[in-house]
Amino acid sequence: MNFTRTVLVTGGCGFIGANFVKLLLKERPDWRVINLDKLTYAGNLQNLAEVKESENYHFVKGDICDAAMIEALFTAEKIDTVCHFAAESHVDRSITGPADFIQTNIVGTFTLLEAARKTWLGGNWDGKEPSFLHVSTDEVYGSLGETGFFTETTPFDPRSPYSSSKASSDHLVSAYFHTYGLPVFITNCSNNYGPYQFPEKLIPLIFHNALNGKALPVYGDGKNIRDWLYVKDHCEAIVRVLEKGVHGQSYNIGGNNEKQNIEVVTVICDLLDAKLGLLPSGEQRKSLITFVKDRLGHDRRYAIDASKIKDQLGWQPKVTFEEGISKTIDWYLANQQWVDSVMDGSYQEYYQQMYANR
Ligand code: NAD
Ligand code: TYD
Repeated sequence: MNFTRTVLVTGGCGFIGANFVKLLLKERPDWRVINLDKLTYAGNLQNLAEVKESENYHFVKGDICDAAMIEALFTAEKIDTVCHFAAESHVDRSITGPADFIQTNIVGTFTLLEAARKTWLGGNWDGKEPSFLHVSTDEVYGSLGETGFFTETTPFDPRSPYSSSKASSDHLVSAYFHTYGLPVFITNCSNNYGPYQFPEKLIPLIFHNALNGKALPVYGDGKNIRDWLYVKDHCEAIVRVLEKGVHGQSYNIGGNNEKQNIEVVTVICDLLDAKLGLLPSGEQRKSLITFVKDRLGHDRRYAIDASKIKDQLGWQPKVTFEEGISKTIDWYLANQQWVDSVMDGSYQEYYQQMYANR
């Protein structure tokens, strides 16, 4: 088959990357997808087990910081599109161990940019029009007060090692556009939720604990605000930017759906009570809510103004929070084996067996 694009998806075994790979294989069958993932604790081949034999899909286990391997991959596969998801992504881990965030998020992004520059701008490129899309976060803009929204021109003001590593990589991507003319896009998205999210992040962690009658840890006063977006909407926005975006531009992506953490936790409890009945003790699951010590440097509020991508590229979210959270809870209920294997680490053995004979 003659593919119209050859897309390198980095971090395709993680939460958003796996949803993105599946979306591409379903909705862009004329694109070849190469998934490069190091399979850290957050990368899980089970997430893509059902598509692993697809003709236009190829998995490579590797580290985005490995310059020689990345450059060879660009040449061998004639990669013309990069969707760069691979990252250390959890703020709490960045507080207790920032080194991996600096390495993967900054050095790894730099390594990919260098490979793209050498391949596409080195004078021998005879492939399709290239694009490098960096998947970033709204956390680069810092923390908002009670009013206002992040726009694409809001100055960066990152507060955590995670967000500052992402801001740093955004700056590198932007520098490669201005300095070398590398055809880049940057997307800055709000908090995602949906299937395959690692149960250390708020929504799947609360689901897991509430299901098992454990305490539900809410940081500080529970009134920090995030703008929640269903993961499929995010993936569709990325495809839209790839197909219609203007190189050198950044696009904010958000759900227009601000919620306090305590509201999100309460919704999950109420949904589980409605779907499964009350706890064996006869109590509602929200009785498990426990306010715990606040996260260091905890950003108070994130809110995205996504009017640029709406007005210029015609994208807007399709899934309401009510719909998305109910679908998400149903997915986790139907996939408890996935949650258990992620929680006990046995998913790591699964991939070792799966690839032992290759
Ligand atoms: P995730 O932690 O679930 O997945 C990260 C993936 O990257 C894993 O599969 C992991 O194995 C892989 N990886 C990590 N280090 C690697 C390395 N050195 N080389 C190759 N692969 C490596 O993350 P996620 O939540 O899916 O986020 C994906 C991207 O989207 C990240 O860049 C993140 O900053 C960004 N983002 C996430 C959110 C969110 O709410 N989750 C919101 C906005 C932006
Ligand atoms: P998280 O899912 O870690 O995403 P991020 O920090 O990137 O926004 O956290 C979402 C919000 O939920 C954030 O304000 C921190 C809070 N939180 C809790 O209150 N309890 C928890 O156990 C976790 C993981 C997060």
